[in-house]
Amino acid sequence: MRLSRYFMPVLKETPAEAQIASHRLMLRAGLIRQSSAGIYSWLPMGLKVLRRLEQIVHEEQQRAGHHPMLMPTIQSADLWKESGRYDDYGKEMLRISDRHGRDMLYGPTNEEQITDIFRRDVSSYKQLPLTLYHIQWKFRDEVRPRFGVMRGREFLMKDGYNFDLTKEDALHAYNRHMVSYLRTYERMGLKAIPMRADGGPIGGDYTHEFLVLADTGESEVFYDSAVTDLTLGERDVDFDDVAQCQALMEEFTTPYARTDETHDEAIFAEVPEERRKTARGIEVGQIFYFGTKYSEAMGANVQGTDGKNVPVHMGSHGIGVSRLVGALIEANHDENGIIWPESVAPFGVSVVNLKQGDTDTDRVCEELYAALGKAGIEVLYDDRSERAGTKFATADLIGSPWRITVGPRGLKEGVVEVTSRRSGEAETMAPDAAVGKLAEIFAGL
Ligand SMILES: Nc1ncnc2c1ncn2[C@@H]1O[C@H](COP(=O)(O)OP(=O)(O)O)[C@@H](O)[C@H]1O
Ligand SMILES: [Mg+2]
Repeated sequence: MRLSRYFMPVLKETPAEAQIASHRLMLRAGLIRQSSAGIYSWLPMGLKVLRRLEQIVHEEQQRAGHHPMLMPTIQSADLWKESGRYDDYGKEMLRISDRHGRDMLYGPTNEEQITDIFRRDVSSYKQLPLTLYHIQWKFRDEVRPRFGVMRGREFLMKDGYNFDLTKEDALHAYNRHMVSYLRTYERMGLKAIPMRADGGPIGGDYTHEFLVLADTGESEVFYDSAVTDLTLGERDVDFDDVAQCQALMEEFTTPYARTDETHDEAIFAEVPEERRKTARGIEVGQIFYFGTKYSEAMGANVQGTDGKNVPVHMGSHGIGVSRLVGALIEANHDENGIIWPESVAPFGVSVVNLKQGDTDTDRVCEELYAALGKAGIEVLYDDRSERAGTKFATADLIGSPWRITVGPRGLKEGVVEVTSRRSGEAETMAPDAAVGKLAEIFAGL
């Protein structure tokens, strides 16, 4: 992308309405614009990040054997009346009536709708196990929408639903989700810790929230610092291997880690004092097993191995995709702007032309732009006729993990400068070598 032709409205001033870094930076870097309270438009660069996150979520869900689909945003209230949640959900639910006076709603979540889909077409244990998911906009009329996309009213969520014959099978689905979520967040360059949580309105005893530690997080968390050393890394996972998924779940949930809702001082006191940590965290996902709560209320039964009809065991599992954009920035920024991890950066490389109009400099920039593109790296080429300082400030603000600076002085020696946004370290090298180095960094992301 050539910056001169792009729509990337950066702001010099700090927007007064934004209280936390991610909200300020998302506005300043031109990722989002507010439409109304808690509702945002995603501008081109913001949308790129959102799409990258969705892509990672899709890949990891499908790796775990879960099937993508898409349910509508607008649902009929009838299903919610069947489950009993139409009245329970309260004012967070946006209720709408259509021209015929039928009660409709903008979905805050999809348990009812997916259970309806399931019960119409699945009738035998032979069609199980089954996990379906989608990535779709939700609406919850939050009392206090704030912090930009962190607590929005309209937000993008991946929500998935497992259907199993037995509790045992459903707990395997739970573990499978836990492991796939760990990998999902790691690929985004985030450390998200699974913490024992409270069932809340969805109900159920088995639930973990995934929290990213950040001072601006809304939840208070208590944990054994040993939990922050755990990583899944490149370990091979067989998602059909019940014992392996169980062992991984146990590995990641054995050290003490709980949110304030489930915190227990007595158990926490058993953690060695130097490892006892209290902090704040951003909830970026949650998994639940809730048994037959919805299948019983809505008659989602299957014929079991003995020929008898039984309600299916279910769970639901969510990832806050739009919130993650905010969480990623909370975890990756400095006073100059965003520092995107390579795997989610809207542009992997910013090419800065120090002397627009200089034949050699322009030519090398064009060559780099083409060669990096060929290597599969998205490049933002700053081809504006601006001062170097302005271009550097823009590059720092929008946070491409790498910057290549091209100017006549370097080119006299045959070199360009490659700078890491994160460390600030700069290296000079021939343009070809710069392409080689970056192609290697971005390969396999
Ligand atoms: N108002 C919101 N704005 C942005 N993301 C949200 C919002 N509410 C929930 N999410 C995200 O969706 C994920 C799944 O939602 P869920 O656990 O059902 O929400 P909650 O914990 O608020 O009941 C959450 O972990 C969070 O990351
Ligand atoms: Mg939650």
